[in-house]
Amino acid sequence: MASWIALLLFGLGAATAQQYYIPVSGISARPQCTATPSYSQPTYSPYSAFAYSMTETVRTATSVQPGPTTTYAPPAASLTSLISSLSFTTWGKWDPNATVSATDTDNPYGDAAWTALWKMANPPNFTETSVFSTTVSPTPIPTSELVLPPSDYFGPTDCYYFPADFQFGVAGSAAQIEGATADEGKAPSLMDILIQDDRPKDYVTNENYYYYKQEIERLASMGVKYYSFSLAWSRILPFALPGTPVNQQGLDHYSDMIDFVLEKGMIPAVTILHFDTPAQFFAANLSAAQAKPVIGYSNGGYQNETFVDAYVNYAKIVMTQYADRVPIWFTFNEPFIYSFNGLSVDHVLKAHAQVYHFYKESINGTGKISLKFNDNFGVPRDPANPNDVYAADHFNSFQLGMFCNPIFLGQDYPDSYKDTVPDYVPLTPEDLSYINGTADFLGIDPYTATVVSPPVANSTDSIHECCGNMSSTYFPYCVNQSTLTTTGWDIGYRSQSYVYITPRYLRLYLSYLYNTFHTPIVITEFGFPVFGEDDQTALSDQLFDMPRSVYYLSYMTEVLKSIWEDGVHVAGAFAWSFADNWEFGDYTAHFGLQTVNRTTQERRYKKSFFDLVDFMNTRTMPQQEGWSGGWNF
Ligand SMILES: *[C@@H]1O[C@H](CO)[C@@H](O)[C@H](O)[C@H]1NC(C)=O
Ligand SMILES: *[C@@H]1O[C@H](CO)[C@@H](O)[C@H](O)[C@H]1NC(C)=O
Ligand SMILES: *[C@@H]1O[C@H](CO)[C@@H](O)[C@H](O)[C@H]1NC(C)=O
Ligand SMILES: *[C@@H]1O[C@H](CO)[C@@H](O)[C@H](O)[C@H]1NC(C)=O
Ligand SMILES: *[C@@H]1O[C@H](CO)[C@@H](O)[C@H](O)[C@H]1NC(C)=O
Ligand SMILES: *[C@@H]1O[C@H](CO)[C@@H](O)[C@H](O)[C@H]1NC(C)=O
Ligand SMILES: *[C@@H]1O[C@H](CO)[C@@H](O)[C@H](O)[C@H]1NC(C)=O
Ligand SMILES: *[C@@H]1O[C@H](CO)[C@@H](O)[C@H](O)[C@H]1NC(C)=O
Ligand SMILES: *[C@@H]1O[C@H](CO)[C@@H](O)[C@H](O)[C@H]1NC(C)=O
Ligand SMILES: *[C@@H]1O[C@H](CO)[C@@H](O)[C@H](O)[C@H]1NC(C)=O
Repeated sequence: MASWIALLLFGLGAATAQQYYIPVSGISARPQCTATPSYSQPTYSPYSAFAYSMTETVRTATSVQPGPTTTYAPPAASLTSLISSLSFTTWGKWDPNATVSATDTDNPYGDAAWTALWKMANPPNFTETSVFSTTVSPTPIPTSELVLPPSDYFGPTDCYYFPADFQFGVAGSAAQIEGATADEGKAPSLMDILIQDDRPKDYVTNENYYYYKQEIERLASMGVKYYSFSLAWSRILPFALPGTPVNQQGLDHYSDMIDFVLEKGMIPAVTILHFDTPAQFFAANLSAAQAKPVIGYSNGGYQNETFVDAYVNYAKIVMTQYADRVPIWFTFNEPFIYSFNGLSVDHVLKAHAQVYHFYKESINGTGKISLKFNDNFGVPRDPANPNDVYAADHFNSFQLGMFCNPIFLGQDYPDSYKDTVPDYVPLTPEDLSYINGTADFLGIDPYTATVVSPPVANSTDSIHECCGNMSSTYFPYCVNQSTLTTTGWDIGYRSQSYVYITPRYLRLYLSYLYNTFHTPIVITEFGFPVFGEDDQTALSDQLFDMPRSVYYLSYMTEVLKSIWEDGVHVAGAFAWSFADNWEFGDYTAHFGLQTVNRTTQERRYKKSFFDLVDFMNTRTMPQQEGWSGGWNF
């Protein structure tokens, strides 16, 4: 990592009030220009005949080559003895306007009870105006859609490549794409009740529930190897709790999806819970689902007294069903963001650890398990100022350390967490030894960076005062966050949302994570909603998304430097997302590598998708003799 960091950390002692974030070391080097310039005058040609000499290269994208067929655990039929016996049933589709009521009111899990769940959740302005009502059969992607776009003039010039076991893929989550939210037995989740104002709801989104085969066909045709998606708990267990019946249609849906991913030569990565906690966990007070939590942004219901047992039961069911075919598991998505209080964090840790032990010691799964964490890297406003460095450490350790200290290091929570969340649940030595080592790598969603300093300049006391004061403006992070550097420049190119293009900080961040938590790193989400993309009325303009290409190619170039120059074990990267989707009440922040026409559900590949897969294809190491498709960690 050499010069850039060295300069960042040490090179600025004398140069006060100068730009702290960009090395100022004279005119940029041009290593490609070896000859000493002679500064002679150019020689202009005599006039000649002119011809339109431009050419167009038309290439089509390649499909994924199917890998070796591997299983990662015994099949479901051999694992049933590991869990209590299951009953299976089906329910229909909820119709809030139905004039006939179900009569099976004696059955605690019958149609009447299922309908009552929807009535309890009472999703606002519920309508489902869907294009599809049954699974769409996949059709091959026409060659006309696979023609490469014009390439950008500037681009990466590196000569590095990715190791053969690098996981490159795309990611999405159930509630943000599936739609069909009250179809085929799915019960309501937090996502159906969270957005109470007149913003768009999750009821329809991308209709991926019915369109998934075509969706996967499109990804395979682009040469994407890994597909990361999440399961909707309330689709698999509408009544959420242990001992309640499994929804056969929900279970079959994800089984078919996994099979189709494998049939296309791709590899599935499954997130067990991505924000869409079943609504029952808020049953005592549904409006609490909208309450602002102490810790994160939303109340995920993890603090509910029944949560841990219910989550572990659900996770065991899906693992016994799918672990033979799924090699990568994430127990929780960004648990910080949906943690309500100290009990939530405790529940996430303990539920996660139980599931890890079950997978490794009962199922004997040979795949990998982790969680997906959030933390937009907090970088010190002035890296030469120890108070700003302290603030950055506080910011990063608060968001990551509450989970990562116990999981990766077997260590107690950091002070930044204990000082901020006084109702934290202490971890005993037994807890720590049970939780220690329960992840095979660290999954991180490092979308961007943020500039951090103490709330009052140079005052670390101002951090500590805020930690104990919930009414402080800076609570709970207790630092001043900014998108500006000390000289007033933005930290990077701005998106439609909180994301700025900050590739160099990504590299620094990967070093921070690797050297702090001593584990391989997988970038489980990263992506860029181009500013104003939704306002482009011509589809062709939306498709030509240069800033997103700059984001992905610069980030991946820095990943390569992290691997080869810093020696950081970065084991994979998943782009968020493969298509524009529902960003929690918002369709204008386009994070997609494809557009989605909200009237027809038609998808189109954006330019950045081609640029990203082309970048990866150009740099993928040929498979080594004897490589079995597994990972070297
Ligand atoms: C219920 O009826 C209302 C009024 O006719 C209609 O606007 C709404 O879309 C219907 N809801 C569903 C889910 O069909
Ligand atoms: C329901 O729809 C009405 C009419 O469009 C709108 O005014 C209201 O804000 C909506 N409520 C919610 C919670 O979305
Ligand atoms: C916790 O979840 C259970 C269902 O599992 C529910 O009965 C109970 O009311 C919930 N508690 C709260 C405080 O919402
Ligand atoms: C339900 O939760 C909301 C939000 O936290 C709170 O304001 C309200 O007082 C609660 N209601 C009851 C009956 O506990
Ligand atoms: C997993 O391994 C343990 C210990 O070797 C063994 O007792 C158990 O039966 C295995 N489980 C399965 C599902 O094969
Ligand atoms: C904060 O501390 C730095 C380095 O110790 C110093 O250069 C700077 O002037 C101080 N700023 C304020 C506002 O006190
Ligand atoms: C956590 O587990 C690692 C790996 O097994 C071990 O080296 C370390 O000592 C453990 N830490 C604690 C605090 O038990
Ligand atoms: C807590 O923060 C609020 C808002 O900044 C402030 O008014 C109050 O004085 C602080 N309380 C303490 C004890 O510092
Ligand atoms: C927060 O930090 C930014 C730059 O990093 C600075 O411009 C701003 O004045 C700071 N705010 C406070 C309240 O100190
Ligand atoms: C979506 O499809 C409809 C119907 O084909 C078309 O009229 C509309 O222009 C499309 N929208 C965009 C943004 O391309």
